[in-house]
Amino acid sequence: METVGSTKVNHFTGNDRAQPLWLLAELSYACPLQCPYCSNPLDFADHSNELTTEDWLRVFREARAMGATQLGFSGGEPLLRRDLEVLITEARKLGYYTNLITSAMGMDEERVAAFQAAQLDHIQISFQASSEGLNNQLAGANVFQHKLAMARAVKKHGYPMVLCFVIHRYNIDQMEQILELAIELQADYVELATTQYYGWAWHNRDSLLPTREQLTRAEILAHQYQARMKGKMKIYYVVPDYYENRPKACMNGWGNIFLTIAPDGTALPCHAARQLPGLSLPNVKDHSIEWIWRESPDFNLFRGQGWMKEPCRSCPDRFKDFGGCRCQAYLLTGDPRNTDPVCSLSPHHQIVADAIATANRQAPSAASETRPWVFRNPQNSKKFCA
Ligand code: SF4
Ligand code: FES
Repeated sequence: METVGSTKVNHFTGNDRAQPLWLLAELSYACPLQCPYCSNPLDFADHSNELTTEDWLRVFREARAMGATQLGFSGGEPLLRRDLEVLITEARKLGYYTNLITSAMGMDEERVAAFQAAQLDHIQISFQASSEGLNNQLAGANVFQHKLAMARAVKKHGYPMVLCFVIHRYNIDQMEQILELAIELQADYVELATTQYYGWAWHNRDSLLPTREQLTRAEILAHQYQARMKGKMKIYYVVPDYYENRPKACMNGWGNIFLTIAPDGTALPCHAARQLPGLSLPNVKDHSIEWIWRESPDFNLFRGQGWMKEPCRSCPDRFKDFGGCRCQAYLLTGDPRNTDPVCSLSPHHQIVADAIATANRQAPSAASETRPWVFRNPQNSKKFCA
């Protein structure tokens, strides 16, 4: 068992033993915020046909019967589902460890108490920045004060609290203030979640990538605070993979432990898989979770090592990192079977090196001026669908 962020996961490399241990229920793509680093699909407005309460409960039962133990409620903004308390109650009765991943928009103290009554295990609140101005600018709404109040309410109700900050060029220089804010709010865990470049974040990548100098400063600070807060607050900080020489073991391997269900019932081996070409993507309205997990062509597509090209095919690290991320390989090279170009052994590694070089040529504050953020909102989504 290993810890990824605040999540405990098992490592399985043999598909015969694979189980959907971690179920992510993306309850709704609706969201009052407009973060330009969101990993939701660009065309999310096209997938508004949400599952019913009964559909979700069937998904939870079937996944649990297959061995799922962790259930994350996410979105969009999961609090916009008025049946969230019912879903949590039933999930807990089924024996899931439940985690609410939220911006806190749609939360009030009464609802926090209702989650407690429903026996929700864990609440993760995301902030855009440590300062009100930047937080609200990135969120596209005046939300900072409400987030602070809800973080305090969560703590007051005795929850182990996780604060999540998605880190990029515009807030990475606030690292010290971010960690001080986490201390003030008495967070138990802080995830300094490096932006992953999928969906809207992919579209905004060139304005969000930090410089190497920014990263170095942030890393030193994160390590100082990790030492200072040892035993009181856990701080998770991961260097962005663009700056690494080896890729992340994305999803702990395709179809290995993670199962994401999108709001419209589409089953995904990872939250970004919609963008891959040639997938039919099964829907829980048409198939059982067991069929989707074991039989569907899409969940089997990148299992094991048979699909790999060189250099992964003969690389000893292929059992450890699974060749990196299929979605990143596709976005950067046009072929999801290629080695993730983050890997320095990839023949396409120069693509990542060029992106970093561009990021480092611009002053930290300049990128959004040369390439303004595209905010995640229904109007922009419809433009992408058109
Ligand atoms: Fe991992 Fe493939 Fe790079 Fe080897 S060549 S380290 S398996 S990504
Ligand atoms: Fe899709 Fe990595 S995000 S495989």
